[in-house]
Amino acid sequence: MLNYTNFSNIFTINRHTLFNTMKQSDIFQIKLQNSDKSFESSNSDSILEAGLRYGLSMRYECSNGTCGVCRARLVKGDIEKIKHHDYSLKAEEIDNQEFLMCCHAPRSNLELDLNLIGDVRSIPLQQIQTKIKKIEFVNDNMAIVRLRTPRSKTLQFMAGQDVELSFKNSAARYPIASCPCHGMELEFHIRNINKDKFSQLIFTQATKVKDSINLTGPKGVFVLKELSVRPMVFIAWDGGFAPIRSLVEHAFSLEMPNSIYFYWAYPENESTPYFDNHAQSWHAVMDDYHYQSIACEFDRNSHNDCHKVAKKIYDSLDHNVVNQSEVYISAPAEVLIYLGEFLLENGLNDTQLIASPI
Ligand code: FES
Repeated sequence: MLNYTNFSNIFTINRHTLFNTMKQSDIFQIKLQNSDKSFESSNSDSILEAGLRYGLSMRYECSNGTCGVCRARLVKGDIEKIKHHDYSLKAEEIDNQEFLMCCHAPRSNLELDLNLIGDVRSIPLQQIQTKIKKIEFVNDNMAIVRLRTPRSKTLQFMAGQDVELSFKNSAARYPIASCPCHGMELEFHIRNINKDKFSQLIFTQATKVKDSINLTGPKGVFVLKELSVRPMVFIAWDGGFAPIRSLVEHAFSLEMPNSIYFYWAYPENESTPYFDNHAQSWHAVMDDYHYQSIACEFDRNSHNDCHKVAKKIYDSLDHNVVNQSEVYISAPAEVLIYLGEFLLENGLNDTQLIASPI
C-alpha cells in the first residue's frame, strides 16, 4: 500500500521555486495582446511549454512542429527557433509574423497575438491511445492511475473535465485529476466498484503498467469561471476530489487571487479522506486557502444515506462565505440533488452553482 504521508513530490506546480532556480537574465515576460494575461518563460523552454505551465488554455496538438495548431503572431520582441519543425508556414503566415510556439523560445520580452481556448465547445473530441505509467493502491478501495499520452498527441482539455477510458471491452467515464499544466501525464482516481467493469480490471490487476488504454474526450462542462472575482467554494464527496484537484491546481497555476474554501466529505469508516495530505499541502501554496474534512456516516447501498450525507455537508458549511461564492460540487447525483436543494433554498443563486455528478 502506498503511504501518502510523503507525497508532496507529486505536487510540482510551484513556479516561483522553478524560476528561482534560473538566472534572472534567462527569464522573459510574455504578454498576450488585448488581454491582461501574461506569463514568464526562460530562454530554454518553448513558449508553448511555458504558457501551459502557467495554466493558459493554449491550442496545440503535436508539441513537435508537425500540426501547425500552435501558431501565434509575434507582435513585439525577438524569438529563436529551438527545435526543427516539419510544418511549413505559408507565405502569408510568414508575412503575418506567425511562428510555432512549440518550436520557439523567447530572446526578449514578447507581445503575442494568439487565440486561447475560450470554452469547452471549442475543444475537439479526441481519441488517443495512452499507456499506463503507474498504478498505486491507496487502500483496497481506491487506486491512483497515471496514464501517459504520446509526446506527439497530448490531450487538450480544460481543468475539471472528464474522459472515457476503455481497455478490451470495458469502458468507463472518469474525471481527470491532473491539471492541463501537467502535460502528457493524466491522473485518475478509481474506486473499487463491483458494477464498474473498468475498475475491476484495475483492482484484479488484469491491467498493468505499459498496457494501452484508449481515451476519448474531453467531455463535460465542470470548468472554472476564470473571470469571476467571487471566493471559490469546492465541495467533494470522496472520489469527487479528482476534478476538484484539477480545478484548484489550475486556479493556482493561473495565480487567481480568489479565496479558496475546500470541504471534503468522506466515509467515516476511513480515518481521513484518501488524499488528505495533498489537500493540506495546498496551505503552502496559498495563504487564503481553507480546508475542512467532513466525516460522514455512509452505507454505499442506501439511498437514504445520500440525504444524510448532503445534510451533514450542508450543516458543516460557512454559509456567509458560501452564499457569496462560486460553489463547485463534485459528488454522486443523489447527494448533489439534495445538497443543491439545501443551498438554493437558503440563499445561493443558481448561477453560482456548478455541479458535476461522479
Ligand atoms: S503543437 Fe503542433 S506544431 Fe506546435
